[in-house]
Amino acid sequence: MSTDTTTTATSAARQVEPAEHVWARQLAFLAAQDDGPRPVGWLLTPRAVVTFVCGSEGRELTLGKSVAAAHPDLPPKLTVAPKFVGDRDLVERCVVTLAGERGLLLVGEPGTAKSMLSELLAAAVSGDSTRVVQGTAGTTEDHLKYGWNYALLLAQGPSEQALVPSPVMAAMRAGGVARVEEITRCLPEVQDALVSVLSDRRISVPELSGESDGAVYAAPGFTVIATANLRDRGVSEMSAALKRRFNFETIGPIGSLEAEIALVRDQAGAALSRAQAPFTVDAAVLEVLVTAFRDLRTGRSVEGWDVERPSTVMSTAEAVSVTTSIALSAAYFPGDRDPLSLVPGHLIGVVRKDDPADADRLLAYWDGAVRKRAQDETRPRAWRHLWELRDVLGR
Ligand SMILES: Nc1ncnc2c1ncn2[C@@H]1O[C@H](COP(=O)(O)OP(=O)(O)OP(=O)(O)O)[C@@H](O)[C@H]1O
Ligand SMILES: [Mg+2]
Repeated sequence: MSTDTTTTATSAARQVEPAEHVWARQLAFLAAQDDGPRPVGWLLTPRAVVTFVCGSEGRELTLGKSVAAAHPDLPPKLTVAPKFVGDRDLVERCVVTLAGERGLLLVGEPGTAKSMLSELLAAAVSGDSTRVVQGTAGTTEDHLKYGWNYALLLAQGPSEQALVPSPVMAAMRAGGVARVEEITRCLPEVQDALVSVLSDRRISVPELSGESDGAVYAAPGFTVIATANLRDRGVSEMSAALKRRFNFETIGPIGSLEAEIALVRDQAGAALSRAQAPFTVDAAVLEVLVTAFRDLRTGRSVEGWDVERPSTVMSTAEAVSVTTSIALSAAYFPGDRDPLSLVPGHLIGVVRKDDPADADRLLAYWDGAVRKRAQDETRPRAWRHLWELRDVLGR
């Protein structure tokens, strides 16, 4: 996937850029191209936000003549590639939720791009996806509300200068999007700090009540996108009061094999170009790897055979990182080993995370689906090769 950033000699290299930097040119184009009405505080129209996230479906978007003249720095035409692969209706619902200034909670299995979608939405809606609180067991109310610069607090007493706003408070002031990652990993009483934020739209700072009414109010446009992983403490444990303040959207794994293969190819390619390694994942490796991930994830092969599911989540994110690792091996150790021969070793590494019995389930997959495909002459040779590598799995 090509991006909009170019590394200049003066800018310090960063491993990860926020989405609004990566896609700066595309966001500027979409802001200029769609002049329809937009919610207060939004950079783009709701429709342009969906186009940014899901792509323009192959359509070439063009700038009107006068708009193009006013923005000579923008390309006159642009086809927007999809970033999040998934249901466009779901993304539309997310955007409508945000336009109504309601909280949005993205729930799903690990590695289904909840964080990525939240970042893309925040970047497109408010141009800043970096106002993030990462939920952990150690998250406190201060992380969601505000803290103090204690040196200033001791020297001057409570003052606006000594106040250290949380990312949520910063988003309220700016009328932007605050992101709360892994909200269900926070203690329920900490999560509930968001109830007043989302209902009263203000955070009171009693220590400053002498100065004004001591509260920080949300500017129009402020809203919260939270994510929750189904493998963590459940969303069922969220308080009813907080649940009512969020619209829930469940993000599932990618539906089609072709779309998942294309995504893994693109994302691994992008990771490799960041590593400046020549990209050498061959199509056969990609196809068997993504097929194996999907079979093990769903418990059913494409042919309809039953597959014993490991307890580990076989996520697309993990498929991307395995593909990247295999390609890096091929790039850095050329000629050592055929990339396909690395697949079983990587799969066992992915599978053997939670339950030792998962290694047996992988072996059962080999003895079932992989063997049957190997015996079928009409199948790609890669399956025969994989079957011959069964010993790598240990028995
Ligand atoms: N539907 C998808 N569209 C685009 N990329 C995807 C999709 N599913 C998975 N990915 C890939 O997975 C990567 C990781 O996604 P992300 O970290 O956002 O997942 P997550 O759902 O937040 O996972 P976790 O629950 O572990 O935090 C993405 O950067 C992307 O490479
Ligand atoms: Mg995440």
